[in-house]
Amino acid sequence: PASIVIAVDGTSGSGKSSTSRGVADRLGMRYLDTGAMYRAMSWWMLSNGVDVHDTDAVAAAAGKPVITSGTDPLGPTIALDGADVSVEIRSDKVNGAVSPVATVPEVRARLVSLQQEEIARALAAGTGIVVEGRDIGTAVWPQAAVKLYVTADPAARAARRAAEEGGTDADAVRVSLESRDKIDSTKGGAAVPEGATHLDTTPYTLEEVIAQVIEIVQTAA
Ligand code: C5P
Repeated sequence: PASIVIAVDGTSGSGKSSTSRGVADRLGMRYLDTGAMYRAMSWWMLSNGVDVHDTDAVAAAAGKPVITSGTDPLGPTIALDGADVSVEIRSDKVNGAVSPVATVPEVRARLVSLQQEEIARALAAGTGIVVEGRDIGTAVWPQAAVKLYVTADPAARAARRAAEEGGTDADAVRVSLESRDKIDSTKGGAAVPEGATHLDTTPYTLEEVIAQVIEIVQTAA
């Protein structure tokens, strides 16, 4: 496969994570979950007694956590201070903390530069990388060869997230998703990237969406 960047932006629960991992795995590319980096940053703040609503405290601590990414799309992606935090970063506590933490400019500046380093390493290694987030095609890597913007109906998103989170109540998940969307779209730097292909995954299975993306990549690359 070509050593390219595939930027996948969109909302939580749209299927963008499963799609991004599936595409990376199928094409032998690396995978970077930037949402997991914001989640790991938030988990570090919560575990170290930093008030996540205190912007100055969060800004002052933003340089402290050591956040690294694995390269295997099917493995645990993000490590925090060397430990696998896959479970912790999906907790309700982190769901409630991540949007305020992600709006702090010092947090964004640090994580965006870590993401750019990770992308440069993948390109140098000749593997290419699928990068998933909210601002990849706009801020992190606007020159990406392929840019996607993935959405789904709110009810479909809540049902998928509830299933991912181990069968929690879909209505509660929907409220939590919508509250994060609201903060993200007003302050978190989320926007539709210029030149992005819009994919509404509502009527499709994961396999169908992966196939559509691979077709887009093959046409573009
Ligand atoms: O994609 P996921 O739901 O894991 O992202 C969690 C949160 O991290 C988002 O709600 C958003 O606040 C933040 N985020 C961000 N920029 C990114 C990825 C995630 O601000 N590139």
